[in-house]
Amino acid sequence: MSKSKNPFSKTIEAKQHTPVYKMHRYFARRPHNVFSELIKHYTQEGDIILDPFCGGGVTVVEGLLLNRKVICVDINPLATFVTEMEILPLDIDEFKREFDSLKQRVQSTISYLYRTACPECLVSPSLHGLASEAFLDWVEWEDGQILKCRYKCLEGHSGEKEPDNNDIILAQEIENRFEEIVARENLSFPKQSIPDGDKTDSILRKGYDYFWQLFTKRNLIALSTLVKEIRKVDNPQIQKFLLFALSGTLKWSSKQSHLRGDVVEGWAMHAYWIYPRNLEINVWETFAKRCKAIIAGKGSVKSLNNHYKRASLFDETLKDANVMVLNQSSDNLPLPDKSVDVVITDPPYGGNVNYGELADYWLVWLDGVMDKTREAVINSTQGKDLKDYEEILLSVFRECHRVLKDDSHLVATFNSKDLVIISSFVKAVVRAGFRLIDGGLLYQPPIKAYVTTVHAKEVGAFTGDFIFTFYKETERDKLIEMDAEQCKVMVDEIIDKHSEKAKTEIQFRHWVYEEIIPLLAEWAKSPDGWLTEIARYAESQIKKRKFENLHFEHARSVAR
Ligand SMILES: C[S@@+](CC[C@H](N)C(=O)[O-])C[C@H]1O[C@@H](n2cnc3c(N)ncnc32)[C@H](O)[C@@H]1O
Ligand SMILES: [Zn+2]
Repeated sequence: MSKSKNPFSKTIEAKQHTPVYKMHRYFARRPHNVFSELIKHYTQEGDIILDPFCGGGVTVVEGLLLNRKVICVDINPLATFVTEMEILPLDIDEFKREFDSLKQRVQSTISYLYRTACPECLVSPSLHGLASEAFLDWVEWEDGQILKCRYKCLEGHSGEKEPDNNDIILAQEIENRFEEIVARENLSFPKQSIPDGDKTDSILRKGYDYFWQLFTKRNLIALSTLVKEIRKVDNPQIQKFLLFALSGTLKWSSKQSHLRGDVVEGWAMHAYWIYPRNLEINVWETFAKRCKAIIAGKGSVKSLNNHYKRASLFDETLKDANVMVLNQSSDNLPLPDKSVDVVITDPPYGGNVNYGELADYWLVWLDGVMDKTREAVINSTQGKDLKDYEEILLSVFRECHRVLKDDSHLVATFNSKDLVIISSFVKAVVRAGFRLIDGGLLYQPPIKAYVTTVHAKEVGAFTGDFIFTFYKETERDKLIEMDAEQCKVMVDEIIDKHSEKAKTEIQFRHWVYEEIIPLLAEWAKSPDGWLTEIARYAESQIKKRKFENLHFEHARSVAR
């Protein structure tokens, strides 16, 4: 097998997500075309790729589309659920049939919860009538009052309106009769309390103790009615895809939805947050859209069906199986030594995204909250600081080193603008026995349309990714003593060099990082704590350089 030792060096314009990735949200999904290019560059058909942090499944889908074999692992059950659904074959006609049958059974019941009067038709539906002319698309709430709503009628009218009396009475009636309806209809919904957490703190302090409290009573009834009916579907595969659609619906159906100008936004923040003005979005309409997204998504990757064969044991991947999906921590993989051809991955970025805490919101509807013990993340509630994060990364990369064939590559994208976090990642990889190859650091600009996402602005994430190419060394070098003062001088020189020319913080960091990171990778074999100190020093020097109208500073002030 001839392997390229030249690092991947193309700058490619990151493309927007394709339909298969639009079926369900996952946090921090990477651009698919960057991954497919990496796969083409570093592997050949039939090679085995390992992604130990597979997240929303980009490596897996792209790898399988290119006829590679992929072993993907994630500690987060939401990640492996989403990934599995992206690659699991679906009989689309059967799915459509089951959707229609579900629609027959529940659409009118659920839509009845959102009945309203269309001002254009001037028809006021009877509260106790069987059919109504119009339905609410969404309702905007503030302090328990309806501010406005959007309607759609069967005649084709739609628009925003002030709530009328019936809208207010209907919402109240559902609220008052909630227990009775749940008992009568034998509905069940998650009863779990919201665990303490760095990202749940914001709502716990506001008095939300249980996940169900994040939903209006109307939406809870609608969601649990759907769950009940989906569970009755006989075909287990179709049932799973309908649950997947329900899970996709959750992004939109809690009080974490809101209006941004005219745009309806589901929950897209990387923290739990209920806006003072929040939206109650029609669950049936959202669910129907999610089902359509699944039909489009699965339709776009039909070619995967021909080869799909999932392995439960590694040996099967050597035969005709082409994919293994493991929901576990990657620090202890059920794979033989020197068995995979390449590692292509996108590790977690310090405390930037707390996947586990955020995923619990979905997981309570699927499986229950996640065991986060070995999640590589910085999280004070979990008692994990930078060192713990680095320790877990190190154990995962050691495992990668063990299962990777000799003379092979570990390729990772990394999205953080914090040099301290980057240095932790680099150190973990180097300490595990890898070397950053010459030219093995490349900056990839972000997907243009997503640069303005609230999250990117808020945390000041480096909006593009660095792509790192490491090489497996067979012998681990001993630690080397570095002269801290000399290294700091080198850091200063690099920072000074770019300080004048750079116009924005992003540009400045980008230029500085391109030179500093390879040095950090060289210095990573220094004794413990040392590299972090240098990275902190560099961060503090970088921060001294002030920019006017900084994208990040501006964004932070907007987010405050
Ligand atoms: C940056 S995300 C990967 C995103 C992915 N590239 C995508 O495009 O969707 C990092 C992932 O690492 C996972 N993770 C964290 N610690 C882990 C561990 N010890 N073992 C396996 N996965 C872990 C998180 O659950 C998260 O899904
Ligand atoms: Zn009308």
